[in-house]
Amino acid sequence: MKWICSVSLAVSLAMQPAFAVQSLPAPHAMTEQARDAFVSQLLKKMTLDEKIGQLRLISVGPDTPKEAIRDMIQKGQVGAIFNTVTRPDIRAMQDQVMQLSRLKIPLFFAYDVVHGQRTIFPIPLGLAASWDRDAVSEVGRISAYEAADDGLNMTWAPMVDVSREPRWGRVSEGFGEDTYLTSVMGSTMVKAMQGKSPADRYSVMTSVKHFALYGAVEGGREYNSVDMSPQRMFQDYLPPYKASLDAGSGGVMVALNSINGVPASADSWLLKDLLRKQWGFKGITISDHGAIKELIDHGVASDPQDAVRIALKSGMDMSMSDEYYSKYLPGLVKSGAVTMQELDDATRHVLNVKYDMGLFNDPYSHLGPKEIDPQDTNAESRLHREQARDVARKSMVLLKNRLETLPLKNSGTIALIGPLADSKRDIMGSWSAAGVTEQSVTLLQGMQAATAGKATLLYAKGANITDNSKVQDFLNLYEKGVTVDSRTPQQMLDEAVEKARQADVIVAAVGEAQGMAHEASSRTNIDIPPSQQKLLAALKATGKPLVIVLMNGRPLTLVKEDQMADAMLETWFSGTEGGNAIADVLFGAYNPSGKLPMTFPRSVGQIPLYYNHLSTGRPYDFTNPQKYKSRYFDINNSPLYPFGYGLSYTTFTVSPVTLSAPAMAHNGTINASVTVTNSGKRDGATVVQLYLNDPVASISRPVKELHGFQRIMLKAGESQTVSFKIDADMLKFWNQQLQHVAEPGKFNVMIGLDSARIQSASFDYR
Ligand code: NOJ
Repeated sequence: MKWICSVSLAVSLAMQPAFAVQSLPAPHAMTEQARDAFVSQLLKKMTLDEKIGQLRLISVGPDTPKEAIRDMIQKGQVGAIFNTVTRPDIRAMQDQVMQLSRLKIPLFFAYDVVHGQRTIFPIPLGLAASWDRDAVSEVGRISAYEAADDGLNMTWAPMVDVSREPRWGRVSEGFGEDTYLTSVMGSTMVKAMQGKSPADRYSVMTSVKHFALYGAVEGGREYNSVDMSPQRMFQDYLPPYKASLDAGSGGVMVALNSINGVPASADSWLLKDLLRKQWGFKGITISDHGAIKELIDHGVASDPQDAVRIALKSGMDMSMSDEYYSKYLPGLVKSGAVTMQELDDATRHVLNVKYDMGLFNDPYSHLGPKEIDPQDTNAESRLHREQARDVARKSMVLLKNRLETLPLKNSGTIALIGPLADSKRDIMGSWSAAGVTEQSVTLLQGMQAATAGKATLLYAKGANITDNSKVQDFLNLYEKGVTVDSRTPQQMLDEAVEKARQADVIVAAVGEAQGMAHEASSRTNIDIPPSQQKLLAALKATGKPLVIVLMNGRPLTLVKEDQMADAMLETWFSGTEGGNAIADVLFGAYNPSGKLPMTFPRSVGQIPLYYNHLSTGRPYDFTNPQKYKSRYFDINNSPLYPFGYGLSYTTFTVSPVTLSAPAMAHNGTINASVTVTNSGKRDGATVVQLYLNDPVASISRPVKELHGFQRIMLKAGESQTVSFKIDADMLKFWNQQLQHVAEPGKFNVMIGLDSARIQSASFDYR
């Protein structure tokens, strides 16, 4: 297979300057002062309708085709567009503004570029599993490059909703359960996508979402409400949004959920007091799809006017995909229910970000002349396959490897079985943006390329992803998400078993359809679907070594699979180059180094199950089991695989922790070090993780909390000392009075290669 990689793009990405400002003549200086003066002047010229028009964000689609909005664009009734992703389409709309509207205020164009634009990278949960800042930064830069090259100015990403809820399908879109890891990944993504400035030719402005606490929806049920103590909110859930805004994100998408009874879209404490006054945010707030209308269903607005009044007054600047602002704001402003100042504030925020995007300097800055438009939008040469393959390999987590079943020998006969083995759509994951399904590499294709001329590869689908017709219908509601084989389940199973019997080893590709881990796809049961469990049992019964390759967008309950498998590899939905990347890991061309960004429970009944839980008054000790302790009587408290866990084809040892001093002075620092040794026979990378614990504090504190990590590469036999600097800020927490404090006393330092197996030491903070 020959994959063409755009050499010029690849070179420019490697050298970075493609992301530096390639300024066109700038009539307007890119300073805050110049921007404020420009926007103030512009606001004075605008009519009421033109101001309201700026607040409208239209999704182009079947309900609002591009022809239908032409007139509105010309009249200045639209501020921005999303779901339009080609340069000719975008240029045509911008032309309508620039040639026919009164004030010629450029539109901005946005899209859900969540894990790639043309090149699809692993889903964000997989990116988090790499624990690799450089890899995530590369994904951000390439995604922004491709998005800007398509004419886009903004992305609805990153999603930094911390979640301890594997039932929630949207955990696939975020960076997992941990506050620190999510903050690092979110801020890295923002910096990479925005580059030096969102006005640069190959940068896009980010829109951090979903503000706030969406990941904590009750029961993991999509769009459900959130109820949370202020301490937990400030300690665990808000920091990733703050970190992403501190990294410079120009946009914030507001969450659909309510928080302690108040819908985020109607929460002036959230959108004004916290976001703008306390955090100093100067960018734009954008509603999620139809959220203003939904205030009526939330039961906080009596009618459309009421919903609009509440949302605007609460600090919601732009309305996504509903006509409510346009319809009802004129009357509300005229009656005085909404003041002109309030309208001006919202309009100003929209104009500010347009200014920051450089659109007033050049409305076509991300388009260029039409003569250089790509002849084929989906051209192979526009993809960044090499980088996609590399990042995908880094995202994979080896969960089990009995008797060194992996890496596979590239000889003899291998049977590749499973409904996900040759599925081009599923491997791309949930938000595949402008990615083209046909361009993705399946595991079958990847293994065919790897084994050519070496091993014999047999293939059978073996089962449908699910035989449940209701689930099939659900997955096929808006797109052909799953195909159901014309053969009976038994015929498929028989074929698979027959192929498996001929093989030396079986590779079973099982898991979820991409549509099972997406928006609006919550599950009460996070098992592998029964059709595939049956397949696995039949394969196991052949007695051949069984390698399970998982493709899924959330933690699954895998007790039975763990028992059956000789080896198990978590590959998430790994993107355009997924099949090649998985083959690299299976055959040992790449030694896996990924670590879980979420706890994998044994049973759905344990949820929420997360590593940084509080101590209880009756902690359960499994070495001394007692009845009246905090436990389930039918299952262990522990997860199947803990947060931070992941194996390698080599082994590592970690020395005891050495501290630079027995005590840390007030506001001082202390160093904690370990020596990590690659004690196996292969070179490999691992992630050294730093956890802290405050054993006695004014409120109960988590048993451990991640505060640092370093990904290191060690040759076989090599050792490296890894040091972490601990400062007083890392000891702080939000106390009962909501003050952010570090209390004097003992602190435990824990360092390890996952959250469960750690070396510890302690120091005094004075
Ligand atoms: C709704 C989703 O909640 C949000 O994440 C997404 O960005 C918008 N739709 C636009 O597609």
